[in-house]
Amino acid sequence: MPEPFYATTPIYYVNARPHLGHAYTTIVADVATRFHTMRGCEVYFLTGTDEHGDKVVRAAKKENMTPRNYVDAISRLFRDLWPELNVKNSSFIRTTDAHHMAVVEQVLQKIYDAGDIYFAEYEGLYCFGCERFYTERELVEGKCPDHQTEPEVIKESNYFFKMSRYRDWLVEHISNTPDFIRPERYKNEALAFLKEPLEDLCISRPKSRLKWGITLPFDNDFVTYVWFDALLNYVSALGYPEGELFKTFWPAAQHIVAKDILKPHGIYWPIMLKAAGIPIYRHLNVHGYWNVEQSKMSKSLGNVIEPLALKNIYGLDAFRFFLIRDMAFGLDSNFSEASLIQRINSDLANDLGNLFSRVLSMVHKYFRGVVPEIEPAVEQECELGLEEDARSTIAEYEPLMESFQFHNALRVVWQFIGQMNKYVDLTAPWELAKKKSSRKSLAAVLCNLMEGLRIISGLIYPVMPETAVKMQKHLGLNPDEPFYLLDRLKIWNFIQSGTRLPKSTVLFPRIEAAEKEEILAENQELPARYPEIKPEITIDEFSKLDLRVATVVQAEIIPRAKKILKLEVDLGEKRIIVSGIADNYAPQELVGKQVIVVANLKPIKLMGIVSNGMLLAAVDEAGPNLATLDKPAAPGTPLR
Ligand code: MSP
Repeated sequence: MPEPFYATTPIYYVNARPHLGHAYTTIVADVATRFHTMRGCEVYFLTGTDEHGDKVVRAAKKENMTPRNYVDAISRLFRDLWPELNVKNSSFIRTTDAHHMAVVEQVLQKIYDAGDIYFAEYEGLYCFGCERFYTERELVEGKCPDHQTEPEVIKESNYFFKMSRYRDWLVEHISNTPDFIRPERYKNEALAFLKEPLEDLCISRPKSRLKWGITLPFDNDFVTYVWFDALLNYVSALGYPEGELFKTFWPAAQHIVAKDILKPHGIYWPIMLKAAGIPIYRHLNVHGYWNVEQSKMSKSLGNVIEPLALKNIYGLDAFRFFLIRDMAFGLDSNFSEASLIQRINSDLANDLGNLFSRVLSMVHKYFRGVVPEIEPAVEQECELGLEEDARSTIAEYEPLMESFQFHNALRVVWQFIGQMNKYVDLTAPWELAKKKSSRKSLAAVLCNLMEGLRIISGLIYPVMPETAVKMQKHLGLNPDEPFYLLDRLKIWNFIQSGTRLPKSTVLFPRIEAAEKEEILAENQELPARYPEIKPEITIDEFSKLDLRVATVVQAEIIPRAKKILKLEVDLGEKRIIVSGIADNYAPQELVGKQVIVVANLKPIKLMGIVSNGMLLAAVDEAGPNLATLDKPAAPGTPLR
């Protein structure tokens, strides 16, 4: 059995909505995990949110919310995004989860008892944006390089972690463990950090300054520094120290991060593990940054790319393919819709899509959609090295995927697609179809092409799972079987003769620039099946409705009424509302959610409970879908 595989993404800060950068890392983790499923490994894939620290407290304050309500709202945006992108994470961790907090306390105590944590007074330059002290040397013209603000001088007593003790050990570990940090440029960057003296890490914040964190188990007046808390998610999620998952998947961890957080992952984290007596993770995989029009994505520049918008316009698999194919893992990449359209048209519609339709339409045309019988001798004659091409494609693909060179692995698959297209041109099945005497050759050629397509569908499965399934179905295969297993892909002549193929289909339509506008417009059109728009009202009539933002404080099932929940909401004042949403929402997932309430609706009694207001929801065949806000707002805020 190959070694188990455990992929992690960074746990994302909850002070901003998810964007293209978060989507990229998480899709990479999904691709890597699916690839390891192809190898027959046991897999586990973790993502989540990082919810403590100054940053979150300040963001919550800005929105007039408590940190608790705020983190619940933003964390949910991340959790809900992943299924939309066909990301199959095994679990989702939040640093506010009780079991995580308990592990942080346990590890802190262990390191403290071992004598690696001490108390000292410290005066230093502190950047609130980064939540860390800077040395003069690290500043650029006296300013934090990330935030371009001057750090403030802060003097306080704090707890420190003796990282300096482990410097030599870490240099040796990084140098002697092949691919510990990859690609190599980031290994070199980490070693360059370590050439400078390694300062001890300040791992506490006094509660007088910050309360939103995990209290140190050995001093009630301090909370834990957010990075010391966050990094431990990778083991707490597995149930460290005794959990079964921990025993299976640690230390087989493969962390995936962008270059911005190389230092905490490449330096603090291995030292924390060493000091706590936990084995060191397997690999740190570091990728570059997605920029937009050559500059960093940022709210203030207004160039933040929303993953769901791209999915809706171009389709999920095309979007996933573009991200993985276009960025050389490790280097920065520039995002533009023009290059996305270019890739869809050339790689997907032209190369793969055309090959697929050409082959299947010939099977339909010449063999009425039934996989023909082949004669081994004829098959060998007609095969022209295609089987060997497939074999060497898989042999090249596997180590590239394993070593996080996904863009190169896809390049190799597309090389094979090129060989397949050439094979069609060389064998010219339409010519073979003209003569009765070459019918056996025609059958062999089309069967070889179908085998090639089957292998391609397996190889693209990690990146484009929906397309892979669609290809399998149209090749007359059962997509519920693990068709992507590498051992199966290595078999030639897998498709059975006599199999009937379903009607052929187009895998990827070409996108013309003008069409994109149409797709956009279509997405915004109202479906016709809904009731007609009601008669006009005046603005005065509308203003009689008092709509308010409310935060759900409590939710419970009413025992005698299956469809109804009793909610306590905060809309500046506390209210009880009874709502028929129990089929679609579990009570615990509603707590902390922000909803829209009709606040001046005459109270009514439902199931013996007086309901003071009504929640707004879009209701269709799937049931109610609660109306929420684009970003958090203070409870009681009116809607206009
Ligand atoms: N909370 C910390 C991580 C703690 S992990 C123990 C954090 N969060 S973050 O929300 O800022 O996420 C940073 C990560 O988001 C990057 O490392 C990367 O994975 C992803 N990206 C954010 N912007 C990105 C780009 N522009 N391009 C590519 N990835 C980017 O740091």
